[in-house]
Amino acid sequence: MQQVKAVVALAKDEPVSVVTINVPDPGPGEAVVKIQACGVCHTDLHYRQGGINDEFPFLLGHEAAGIVEAVGPDVTTVAPGDFVVLNWRAVCGNCRACDRGEPQYCFATHNATQKMTLAEGELAGTELSPALGIGAFAEKTLVAAGQCTKVDPAARPAAVGLLGCGVMAGLGAAINTGNVTRGKTVAVIGCGGVGMAAIAGSALAGASKIVAVDIDAAKLEQALTMGATHTVNSAEVDAVEGIKAICSDNGADGADVVIEAVGRPETWKQAFYARDLAGTVVLVGVPTPDMLVPDLPLIDVFGRGGALKSSWYGDCLPSRDFPMLTDLYLQGRLDLDAFVTEEIGIDDVEAAFEKMHHGGVLRSVVVL
Ligand code: APR
Ligand code: ZN
Ligand code: ZN
Repeated sequence: MQQVKAVVALAKDEPVSVVTINVPDPGPGEAVVKIQACGVCHTDLHYRQGGINDEFPFLLGHEAAGIVEAVGPDVTTVAPGDFVVLNWRAVCGNCRACDRGEPQYCFATHNATQKMTLAEGELAGTELSPALGIGAFAEKTLVAAGQCTKVDPAARPAAVGLLGCGVMAGLGAAINTGNVTRGKTVAVIGCGGVGMAAIAGSALAGASKIVAVDIDAAKLEQALTMGATHTVNSAEVDAVEGIKAICSDNGADGADVVIEAVGRPETWKQAFYARDLAGTVVLVGVPTPDMLVPDLPLIDVFGRGGALKSSWYGDCLPSRDFPMLTDLYLQGRLDLDAFVTEEIGIDDVEAAFEKMHHGGVLRSVVVL
């Protein structure tokens, strides 16, 4: 057991606190990781607002890279000293999905078995709920060994740590779920961190046209630096018409792949109508539970054919995707640094939550 500093949400909708926590020595199947960098994601804010569940106190942070410090007795996949990116889907290896060779849909993902606890204050001894089973706004955290993926240690932790969540979700929505390949046309609705990553992923995959759609002109400017070839400001023009006008080569009636990265019914409906016949819609923005699929004539669903998909964590397989994307980053083919808007300290997480509402920030990254 050791004590470290960490960012904890003690109670619903209260500002987060930097407190001392107890991190147990790793048991079977576990690893303790010394965190070097961890991005601030909307999901952390949702936890601290009580929007995910009420299991306070939460140990926040889940987009992280660091060095393995110690592993449990039976751990063979990682060793002390390894540079790793953490993931929130350690797969089981023998459920129906794993058995059929699709571990990205594993039904039995797991986390560390032991609990980290608060080490100070009235609540000392209380078990912490780590965000997405990680809890990486901390000098060190305890995870399942399967949550650690080794990547090239030459990479900047603040950049590759982002592969652990939002940036992977966007890249994977394009590359894995949307199956964007050379020559396809793509539209991305919503150009936050997730949408920008979908744009970067589409560029990496060789899309012939990449249309960025947003209501914020500054985001569209930035999208052009991430690989977008065209922009549509949907505060000024109709998104569907704008996309169709750009993706009309060879008689096409829209984009081959439309990626929705806002998470709202009206933008999903735009995506539905902006795709070409037999095109694909990928929903990667996360809707709230009260949102419903918009009213659509069933004949339109039938008539347009194609695929309506959702992309969970970019359908990623960490052991395959994290090392590959890290290598592409180191080769200068994927600019992960562009997603790091600012590096901040462990005391600045609450301020970073504030900045999320004001735009202009793709990711604030806590560097330890
Ligand atoms: N049409 C087009 N773009 C929109 C619209 C709209 N009606 N409404 C919002 N946007 C844009 C915003 O201007 C912003 O650029 O969508 C983008 C959302 O970006 P962020 O708030 O930074 O969110 P991001 O981190 O990219 O995540 C997108 O995925 O992970 C989930 O919870 C997350 O649902 C959110 C989504
Ligand atoms: Zn499984
Ligand atoms: Zn996240």
